[in-house]
Amino acid sequence: MAEKQIRIVGLTGSLRRDSYNKASLRAAKKLLPENTVLELIDLSDIPFFNEDVEKEGLPEPVVKLKEELNKADALLISTPEYNYSIPPVLKNALDWVSRGEDLPLYGKPLAIMSASMSALGGARVQYHLRQVCVCLNLLPLNRPEVFITAAHTKFDENGNLTDETTKKLIKKLLSALVEEVK
Ligand SMILES: Cc1cc2nc3c(=O)[nH]c(=O)nc-3n(C[C@H](O)[C@H](O)[C@H](O)COP(=O)(O)O)c2cc1C
Repeated sequence: MAEKQIRIVGLTGSLRRDSYNKASLRAAKKLLPENTVLELIDLSDIPFFNEDVEKEGLPEPVVKLKEELNKADALLISTPEYNYSIPPVLKNALDWVSRGEDLPLYGKPLAIMSASMSALGGARVQYHLRQVCVCLNLLPLNRPEVFITAAHTKFDENGNLTDETTKKLIKKLLSALVEEVK
């Protein structure tokens, strides 16, 4: 019997059109192991979390997000670091899906990447994200750690990843993620 296709869902905390993190997720699409798909989800329509709104019923974009995450075997997050921490867009989305009976992230493996123009490549946001994962019971891989430092030097003007070392690292990360699913 043919092996089941593995479905990874990709999220980012950046809404910026020319985002290096969005570009990193697009690069990951080209570096997947066999029989694996990566669906990128746009978080720009997700409203701010509000418990009153939640009580009245989940907004349509949140319902759709939960559906997509429910179908995922694993997650890939590539996020910027904002003031040493998690950008609100990403944290807000994680907050929405962390509540209720239906917990689409619970127990799923996660691979983390961060891209930044700085020399640290967003190292600090990764550790804040790992802390949140404990509460969500999302299971982040420890290795390899992918910090895309000096991101402005690693993509061309069309947002294509040009740095071979980074490509190899992302490929390794995706293989490790798929192994974890298996
Ligand atoms: C509000 C804000 C805070 C930022 N704080 C940090 C930071 O703490 N560390 C860092 O490396 N870069 C920081 N940056 C720079 C971002 O890493 C840089 O803008 C990056 O390109 C954003 O990711 P993106 O290209 O995916 O949009 C910050 C940018 C913004 C807008």
